Order: sequence, then C-alpha cells, then structure tokens
Amino acid sequence: MDIGIIGAGNLGTGLAKRLLATGHDVVLSYSRDMSKLEETARVLGARAGTLIDAVSFGEVIVLATPYTASADALKQVGNYLHGKIIWDCTNPLKPDLSGLLIGTNTSAGEENAALAPSAHVVKAIPPFAELLHSASIDVGGGQPDVFLCGDDESSCQIVSTLVKDIGAEPIVVGKLVFSRYVEPANMLSVALAYGNGFGPRVALSLRRGS
Ligand SMILES: NC(=O)c1ccc[n+]([C@@H]2O[C@H](COP(=O)([O-])OP(=O)(O)OC[C@H]3O[C@@H](n4cnc5c(N)ncnc54)[C@H](OP(=O)(O)O)[C@@H]3O)[C@@H](O)[C@H]2O)c1
Repeated sequence: MDIGIIGAGNLGTGLAKRLLATGHDVVLSYSRDMSKLEETARVLGARAGTLIDAVSFGEVIVLATPYTASADALKQVGNYLHGKIIWDCTNPLKPDLSGLLIGTNTSAGEENAALAPSAHVVKAIPPFAELLHSASIDVGGGQPDVFLCGDDESSCQIVSTLVKDIGAEPIVVGKLVFSRYVEPANMLSVALAYGNGFGPRVALSLRRGS
C-alpha cells in the first residue's frame, strides 16, 4: 500500500521502518529541515517529499506530529485529503509528558477530524517508538495491543491491517469519539514508562472472559 507519513521523528521513522519491511511504499514529509528529512528518508530507503507530495501519494496518511503541530499540517493539506484515510497516531501530551492538554470531553482524534472533514480519521496510537525501532516489538512475550477507533468501518479495517503489519494487535473499540478514552489510556502507558521508570517496553493489554 502507498503510505504518506506526516512527521518523521521517533514515531514516524519507526513506523516507516516497519511498514517498508512489510512491503509498503512510504513518502516521509513535514520537517522544519528538508535536508534532514531527505537524509532520514535515504537511510530508511523511503522517499522524502512535501506535505502535498505525501498526502497525494498515500492511500493512508499517517499523522505522526506532536499534537501541537497537527493543526498546522492538516490545514496545509486540507484540499488534498478527500477520501483519504488518516491514521492518527497523535496523543495531546503536554510537552513535559506530565499529562494531556485536552481530554475526556473532546480528543485530538476528533479535533484532527474536524480539520479534515473529507477524510476518514482512525485513531490508533502505536506502541512506543523505542519498540518499533528495536528488533522485537513484543512486550512480555506477546504482541502489544493497539486500541483503534473511527467512524468509517472499512478505514478501521485497513488501519487494523497496518497495525498487524507493524507487529501489534489491533483492538477496534468503536467510533472516533472513543479517542476520548484511547488517548488517556495511552497517557497511562506514558506515565508508567517515563514517569514511573518502567521504560518503554510496556503496553496496555485487553483481557476478556466469556
Ligand atoms: N514517540 C513515541 O513513542 C510515540 C508513540 C505513540 C504515539 N506518539 C505520538 O506521535 C506523535 C509524534 O511523536 P514523536 O515522538 O515522533 O515526536 P518527534 O520525534 O518530536 O517528531 C515530530 C516530527 O514532527 C516534525 N515537525 C514538523 N513541524 C513541527 C513543528 N512545528 N513542531 C514540532 N515538530 C514538527 C518534526 O520534524 P523536525 O524536527 O525535523 O522539524 C518531527 O519529524 C506525537 O503526537 C506523539 O504523542 C509517539
């Protein structure tokens, strides 16, 4: 599948690496330093482009910017997003990771969707970038769960397939409004990993009984 990635930082490059390894084509975009972006893409074996290049190329657009930059990126490509699937990886973290800038009565997922009304936004926050960049993504002997939500069922299925391709287990929880709970749940992982000293090899998992 053709995938445009907005944001080539820790997460964007970790996803690019794993998606390229499973046969997808990737265009990386959105840096304040185009020569750095080009070098990052070259090392990964991907292509670098402008925001418009990445969005025009991708059937799926991975949004991997800080939450505080996502509105700027989406506004620049609003006219190119018609019918596109946006895999929204953003969590509206405070810059010092001490909490969320917004949450529970709205979400980054919903705010990003409002800026891209002609696209299908799927919220799915991947495992920590350190895991994506390491030899194994597994946590505690198994694949990390990724909670996923969106209003368009077939877009959720497509992003679920990509989540499987990076080595994680997708759990579809419902409509995009569930971002209000997916994002704080991810914040708990961030707090455990970086606040409580557990480190990045942590993941929340769903256990079900009959
Ligand atoms: N890191 C993780 O483990 C992880 C896991 C799950 C979800 N997430 C989410 O993924 C998103 C990205 O996280 P990250 O850790 O990959 O962040 P990051 O390493 O800081 O990467 C951010 C990327 O956005 C680009 N960017 C362009 N314009 C920007 C601007 N005005 N301000 C800031 N960055 C700008 C940066 O490019 P230049 O610096 O080259 O300009 C960089 O490539 C966040 O929403 C985060 O909550 C992260």
